[in-house]
Amino acid sequence: MQANYDLLARQLEALLDSRDWLTNSAQTCAFIMHSVPDLNWVGFYLQRQPELLSLGPFQGKPACHPIPFDKGVCGAAARSLATQRVDDVHAVAEHIACDAASRAELVVPILNGERLWGVLDLDSPLPARFAAVDQAGIEQLAAVFTSRSDLDAAD
Ligand code: SME
Repeated sequence: MQANYDLLARQLEALLDSRDWLTNSAQTCAFIMHSVPDLNWVGFYLQRQPELLSLGPFQGKPACHPIPFDKGVCGAAARSLATQRVDDVHAVAEHIACDAASRAELVVPILNGERLWGVLDLDSPLPARFAAVDQAGIEQLAAVFTSRSDLDAAD
C-alpha cells in the first residue's frame, strides 16, 4: 500500500516537539520504520569528521560504521549532496552490504544550511521498492526533521 506522505509529514511535525537533534533523529527513524511499508532498515549517518559518516540513531539490524565519503550509496549521497535512489543494490558496485536482505536503497542528504550534516538512509528487501513518489515523500519527511531540529548542536 502506498504511504500518504502529506499525512505522514503532518504527523511527524506533531511528533517532533523538541529542538533536540538526537531525540528528533531517533523519533524520525522509528516513525518512518513503522509508517512506511516494506523497510528493513532506517537510520541516520552523521558527518562528525571530514569525509566520514558515523552511524547515528537507527531502526533495524546493527549496521556498518563508519562509512567514508568514497564508499557506498551513503557516501555517494554525501559527495554529491543529491538523493540516491537505487532499485537493486546488488547491481551497484559501490554499495556496502550491511544486510544481505537489502535490495533497494534510498539515501537523502541532510543539510545544515549549505553544509552536509548527515544522511537519512532507508533499505528495503523488495527490489525497486522506492518510486519517485517515495523519494519526494521521504525528502519531505527529512525536511520536517531538518526544520524541527537544532542541527548546530550536533557539532
Ligand atoms: N548500504 C549502505 C550502507 C549503510 S546500510 O544500508 C545501513 C551504503 O551502501 O552506503
